[in-house]
Amino acid sequence: MKAKNCLIFGGSGQIGRNLIRKLTRNNITVTVVTRNIHQKGLVIKTQANAGYIDIVEANIYDEIKIRELFKKADICINLIGILYEKKKGNTFKNIHTLFPSLLSKLSKEYNLEHFIHLSALGINEAKDSSYAISKLEGEKNILNNFTQTTILRPSIVYSSSDNFTTQFMTLLNRLPTFPLYYSGNTKFMPIHCSDLTDIIYYIISKNINSKIIECVGPETLTFKEILQILLKLINKKRLLIPFPLPLARLSAKFFQLFPKPLLTEDQLRLLKYDNVLSGKYKSNNEIGVPSKLFFKEEVKKYCYMWREGGQFSTNEPS
Ligand SMILES: NC(=O)c1ccc[n+]([C@@H]2O[C@H](COP(=O)([O-])OP(=O)(O)OC[C@H]3O[C@@H](n4cnc5c(N)ncnc54)[C@H](OP(=O)(O)O)[C@@H]3O)[C@@H](O)[C@H]2O)c1
Repeated sequence: MKAKNCLIFGGSGQIGRNLIRKLTRNNITVTVVTRNIHQKGLVIKTQANAGYIDIVEANIYDEIKIRELFKKADICINLIGILYEKKKGNTFKNIHTLFPSLLSKLSKEYNLEHFIHLSALGINEAKDSSYAISKLEGEKNILNNFTQTTILRPSIVYSSSDNFTTQFMTLLNRLPTFPLYYSGNTKFMPIHCSDLTDIIYYIISKNINSKIIECVGPETLTFKEILQILLKLINKKRLLIPFPLPLARLSAKFFQLFPKPLLTEDQLRLLKYDNVLSGKYKSNNEIGVPSKLFFKEEVKKYCYMWREGGQFSTNEPS
């Protein structure tokens, strides 16, 4: 049987790289679109065996070029997302609302079997966050444009190549104290990246068309608990200090002046809301793909490089 072709946008990111490996190992060919093949070509290419992967450089608004790719595709997956806005076209509206709308329109026009779009958990509640508003608007447009769509809303996604646990372990290593926003009480249900890509593969292979699916890991952890687990894993003691909101806002205002901000005002607003199952939509548990991997056990596998002595650190964290 001819292998299906999956057109992936944002395949060079954490979820994308993992997904390319998962799909191509299961006899699905992928065409991965990147903005810069010189910079990302190697990392994308090495995720799959030759013959299973094509890489195309394209501006995501080059509709003529993108149309050509849709002609050969059976499935389209959109993994493009940003955490903060940058100058020129890199706005939440462009990336999270207009671009996914275009992809869903093209999926319909070219009769694709399925459009799978990565959104985010908790966006209904976070009404004062521009990130959440743009993701929600994107979802509405997609669902209007193409019925054979599945939207996934994951909680925080972690793995050895994330920008979450790795960045926090670096910061916890370097800083003597660490700020707790909203007293560190915000709840998350972190999901391991490979559990999330198992869900995507399951949706493709079983042709599940469930509109919106919330994707969560097996446990609920507060922000403070996450930091405490990371500290224990890297054998560090740090003061976790609740930050008054005005001070948090001031620091976000300062951080967002940098090209890769540690925190923006919009992220601070988003952090106010628990990132857990809403109960309003199906979850990965209900569609039959519960998450198997626990946060502490998984991070334990790669955290040692942040411990004193790196690979030579002998003290096993409990
Ligand atoms: N990671 C999480 O914890 C998490 C949680 C909830 C939802 N999500 C959603 O899941 C999706 C994938 O997440 P991820 O963590 O794998 O993403 P990522 O690593 O941050 O980025 C995915 C890819 O998007 C492309 N991209 C980034 N900025 C862009 C821009 N301004 N214009 C065009 N393309 C751009 C990049 O591809 P090229 O550089 O190759 O062009 C990048 O590799 C996103 O939609 C994200 O919002 C992620």
